[in-house]
Amino acid sequence: MKIIPKPHKITEVSGGTFIFSAATVLPDGYSVIREKLAAISSSFKSVEPNEITLKLSEDCDLKGEEYRLEITPQKVEITAKNYKGLFYGTQTFIQLAFEHVIDKVSAMPCVIIEDMPRYPFRAFMLDVSRHFFCIEDIKRQIDLISALKINRLHFHFCDDQGFRIEIKKYPKLTEKGAYRAQTRGDGKPHGGFYTQDEIKDLVAYAALRAVEIVPEFEIPGHCTAVLAAYPELSCRGEGLPVGDRFGIFMDIYCGGNAKTVEFIKDVLSEIAELFPCEYIHLGGDEAPKMHWRQCPKCRAAIEGNGLKNEEEFQAYLTNEAIKHIKQYGKTAIVWNESMNSGMLDESAVCQYWWENESKIAAAANRGRKLIVSKTAPFYLDYPYGSNSVKDIYKFNLSLPGLDGDGEKNILGFDAPLWTEYVSEADIDFKAYPRLIAAADRGWTDCAPDYADFKSRLENILSIFSGYGVKYATLVDAEPGYFRARKSLRKWKRISGGDKFAEAVYRAYIADKRKNEKR
Ligand code: ACM
Ligand code: ZN
Repeated sequence: MKIIPKPHKITEVSGGTFIFSAATVLPDGYSVIREKLAAISSSFKSVEPNEITLKLSEDCDLKGEEYRLEITPQKVEITAKNYKGLFYGTQTFIQLAFEHVIDKVSAMPCVIIEDMPRYPFRAFMLDVSRHFFCIEDIKRQIDLISALKINRLHFHFCDDQGFRIEIKKYPKLTEKGAYRAQTRGDGKPHGGFYTQDEIKDLVAYAALRAVEIVPEFEIPGHCTAVLAAYPELSCRGEGLPVGDRFGIFMDIYCGGNAKTVEFIKDVLSEIAELFPCEYIHLGGDEAPKMHWRQCPKCRAAIEGNGLKNEEEFQAYLTNEAIKHIKQYGKTAIVWNESMNSGMLDESAVCQYWWENESKIAAAANRGRKLIVSKTAPFYLDYPYGSNSVKDIYKFNLSLPGLDGDGEKNILGFDAPLWTEYVSEADIDFKAYPRLIAAADRGWTDCAPDYADFKSRLENILSIFSGYGVKYATLVDAEPGYFRARKSLRKWKRISGGDKFAEAVYRAYIADKRKNEKR
């Protein structure tokens, strides 16, 4: 059967078919599920009445996201312990309905599907800082990922180029920090932000589609947009424009300034109240330490707290933030650089994206929870020439060096779409079908079989096509040698050529290497 992600167990039951039609009686309540079913059944021919029922059962033997879908000629029954399971069972049913439609009649075989995910964390990251996406575009992506049983939207809402959520206590974050004058010399202002009411609406929208939004508030780097609004929070205290180029920025939060630490906690309090999620992402990637080394306040804080170096200071500050969000019942996720000092609170989940793979595997073997986002194959902004759909499908969500305990600490994957060079015009092309492959591997416990995946892919792609999704066809998504080279050349042309950004990056890397030897 052409279902993505591939279900855990399908039992075919002989005898008859269930015909999904305009006459099918849809379940009461569960308005989003009902609307999704109604939108499809109303386009099918009307035949004999039959029924779809949803059964939320506290005392069934199903857990968490599991569901059971039973199709008989008279009735479809979806059973789950919670709403997520009912939503997933419906998604599976919808894919079956489309697979078996001929001439506006969908006649499905009788089956029992018992299904459950392999990994609990299956995420798509959208960077709304580099490019501001309107709420409707984000909701559309939530609908698409929810059809794939991706259960988290990692919301990268602040970075050097824009701060995008209204924070009541610090209004300048969005008055000033949400807008940049131009981007890489294009002379065009860019910006926007989400009010707290819009965020609440978005969170509720996502929850009804079994998606939890995980906000990322970046510390201690990637914060130029904040420092443009509140320059006193940096070591140098100098006024800066909101980032109008891409890459690394040397000014980061002054960790030695009590006002900065108070600011970080205040923002986290508002974020924790807005997002009823299990996790808050605290960033931690690419934080240059040059200014911390020169700053009297940071020096005093490092010495006063008995810390050996700036890497330990990053972990110390991150641990303060972790302690703060624990009061709201939240667990932290951090990019892997936050672990460099070895001092990071053990509750924090490490999101692995580059370098130190063996150190990270060793940390997982000792108990650290891991999310895998390795740049190749998971970065969705990268061209298909380096990260093809086949690469992402074939990637084992494991790291060299993991032992049996370490394997158990892998929570899942997060496929990031950074948007320095991506807008609403090309989000579909970049994300699909790669996210479809990631979703399949993150859910199923079956051994990878790329030919089988491709045979299932066409059904979901034709459903997406009906929703107007401009996905990449396999000609682009699984390119041969020449097309791959062409996509890499195009990527270099679009993303390269900023000599200043390249020089800053080299300086950052040189300094980082020096730190690693200290
Ligand atoms: C990252 O790509 N800087 C996490
Ligand atoms: Zn400082």
